[in-house]
Amino acid sequence: MMDKIVLITGGASGIGLGTVEYLLEQGGYVPVSFSWGAAHIEEAKETLRMNYGDAADKALFLQGDVSSGADLQKLYEELDTRFGHLDGLVNAAGIIRLGGVEEQTLEDWERCFKVNLTGMFMMTKTMLPLLKKGTDPSIVNLSSMASERVGGSIAYSAAKAGVDAMTRYLAKDLGKYGIRVNCVAPAAVYTNIYVTSGDYTQEGYDKWSEDKVSLYPLGRIGYPKKDLAPMIEFLLSDKSSWTTGGRFLVDGGISA
Ligand SMILES: NC(=O)c1ccc[n+]([C@@H]2O[C@H](COP(=O)([O-])OP(=O)(O)OC[C@H]3O[C@@H](n4cnc5c(N)ncnc54)[C@H](OP(=O)(O)O)[C@@H]3O)[C@@H](O)[C@H]2O)c1
Repeated sequence: MMDKIVLITGGASGIGLGTVEYLLEQGGYVPVSFSWGAAHIEEAKETLRMNYGDAADKALFLQGDVSSGADLQKLYEELDTRFGHLDGLVNAAGIIRLGGVEEQTLEDWERCFKVNLTGMFMMTKTMLPLLKKGTDPSIVNLSSMASERVGGSIAYSAAKAGVDAMTRYLAKDLGKYGIRVNCVAPAAVYTNIYVTSGDYTQEGYDKWSEDKVSLYPLGRIGYPKKDLAPMIEFLLSDKSSWTTGGRFLVDGGISA
């Protein structure tokens, strides 16, 4: 069987990177990451080389901004030339800035929507011609527990509720092409998101993560490759061939 070509936005860090690693370990996939900063890309490449040796060369790391039409067009052309189709798209690129209505500025709100929701819409729209040519194509969007419960950021919660609604809409829209669309809604997962945003120092984030543990029935927060990637891979694969339009909580039981 041919390897599945899967584009993973935000694949150089956190849940996206955990997914790239898991797909490499499973075999049968060519993971293609598309993310913003050069620093995480270099770190990710080093980590993969250390952990997987030559097998790491199967993963591609491309750089660009999901909220830039020009970058998306360039990405489309590169993937069309290299592969001519896509079998999967994981929309994991995301940002946060903590704060409620009094703390957040219009700029915070607009940036959050531009990356987390509009970027997801534009990426999906741009890649659609390639997905239509894929085999059993599947899209997995990263939502959040915060789309249904109050989280730490008003813009983030609202944008993620948009992700849930867009996922359902796309499932109806794209079923006629055999393209499935689902979203995964994690609770706290140990990644770089709050340190990158400047909301926490690394030490502050580590302490915050430890403090959260007691809230979880399973007694711990989540980890990208161990806890999120298997659910994402399940939704990408034929194992979920009659599943579309779903929102899957991966939350250590905190919502129970
Ligand atoms: N961590 C959690 O607790 C949690 C919980 C629920 C949902 N989520 C969701 O899971 C997804 C992954 O987040 P994460 O926690 O893994 O965060 P992360 O470690 O910060 O990874 C996010 C990735 O997205 C990339 N990115 C950000 N803005 C981008 C842009 N404009 N264009 C292209 N790439 C961009 C980042 O690029 P850089 O490498 O340059 O930083 C990074 O590679 C997000 O959608 C997030 O909302 C996370």
